[in-house]
Amino acid sequence: MSQTLNFPDAVPKLFREAVCLRELTEEDIPTWFERASDPGSAVLAGDPIPESVEIGFQWLQRHRERFRQQAGIRWAIVPKGSTQSVGTIGLTITSKQECIAELGIVIGRAYWGKGIGTSAAHLVIDYAFNILGLAEIQAEVLQRNLASRRLLEKVGFHLLNTMPGDLQSDTNSEDFFLYVLSSQNRTDT
Ligand SMILES: CC(C)(COP(=O)(O)OP(=O)(O)OC[C@H]1O[C@@H](n2cnc3c(N)ncnc32)[C@H](O)[C@@H]1OP(=O)(O)O)[C@@H](O)C(=O)NCCC(=O)NCCS
Repeated sequence: MSQTLNFPDAVPKLFREAVCLRELTEEDIPTWFERASDPGSAVLAGDPIPESVEIGFQWLQRHRERFRQQAGIRWAIVPKGSTQSVGTIGLTITSKQECIAELGIVIGRAYWGKGIGTSAAHLVIDYAFNILGLAEIQAEVLQRNLASRRLLEKVGFHLLNTMPGDLQSDTNSEDFFLYVLSSQNRTDT
């Protein structure tokens, strides 16, 4: 079945009791740099470690360009009662034709285990299926990333298959799990 995405003109602001998701701005660069410079977190997220905070302007520009090309949406995650973001969450459109996107999320280590990731994922999933018109969301997770796997299972994803890492690669040699959530199999949580 072919359908069309209802891609927004501006990054929408999304709210839930504990968190607000909003457009990324220059103000998010210092906290992005702190997160991205955490080697343990970066390897789990599959991101390279930036050399300097100035790279943050390229990071922001890349997300703005992806949005302009209707290739993805990335939000800053702001906990209730705060003005500063503590992480980001986003959808990268992997098939416009089949309305499939990949979910990505990173939260600063100091804020892990407080339910922020789960709340942010709920908001993005609701938006993705009810407004954007996605048919399926996928997520690739390192097998040892127990927090991310638990988060995905809590918000309704199921494990589809295992993808072997590249044994020749220094940075990409670990096995991944591919999780999926489709609009048809979804139960509101
Ligand atoms: C994955 C990540 C986004 C989770 O965000 P979070 O805000 O800490 O998640 P939550 O607090 O909502 O917790 C989600 C669940 O994981 C569980 N969890 C957290 N750490 C865990 C761990 N080390 N082992 C097992 N479960 C864990 C929590 O207890 C919770 O489950 P529960 O409600 O049943 O207790 C965050 O850990 C992170 O940014 N990690 C580094 C980057 C990354 O891995 N990104 C995802 C790449 S696919």
